[in-house]
Amino acid sequence: MAKTILVLHGPNLNLLGQREPDIYGATTLADIDQRLHELAAHHQARCLCFQSNSEGALVERIHQASTQGVDAIIINAGAYTHTSIAIRDALAGVAIPFIEVHLSNVYQREPFRHHSYLSALAQGVIVGLGAYGYEAALRYALDIHAPSFSK
Ligand code: DQA
Repeated sequence: MAKTILVLHGPNLNLLGQREPDIYGATTLADIDQRLHELAAHHQARCLCFQSNSEGALVERIHQASTQGVDAIIINAGAYTHTSIAIRDALAGVAIPFIEVHLSNVYQREPFRHHSYLSALAQGVIVGLGAYGYEAALRYALDIHAPSFSK
């Protein structure tokens, strides 16, 4: 059966391409989403992409995922990674396996970025690979041999 993967982008990621390009690169969010859509389509899968600057909207979108047959979530929660128990609880609540992605290597940056409320629940965490991190996460989620994501 075709897989459905939900990709969630948190606050300020709509500014990719113009936001601190030395840290986050020149690729825009539209470029990233387009690449993920193409990759998913190539594997006869469906990719749903959603960005919000609002914590509540991200929580609502995670809840909605449980009624949409979403097989896996790829999430870059941006700064909410380091602050949001609500997003963590939403991911735990729907019990959909998820991969946490960060464009930058957060461990090379300020200490407040070293803690994530999400990582302990994540299937895996990808940091520092730039836009390619999303693609790597999607490839894992689509791989029928990835144990936790196979149906
Ligand atoms: C980020 C890292 C976070 O610390 C930061 O707040 C972001 C982006 C990343 O992709 O590297 O907004 O999640």
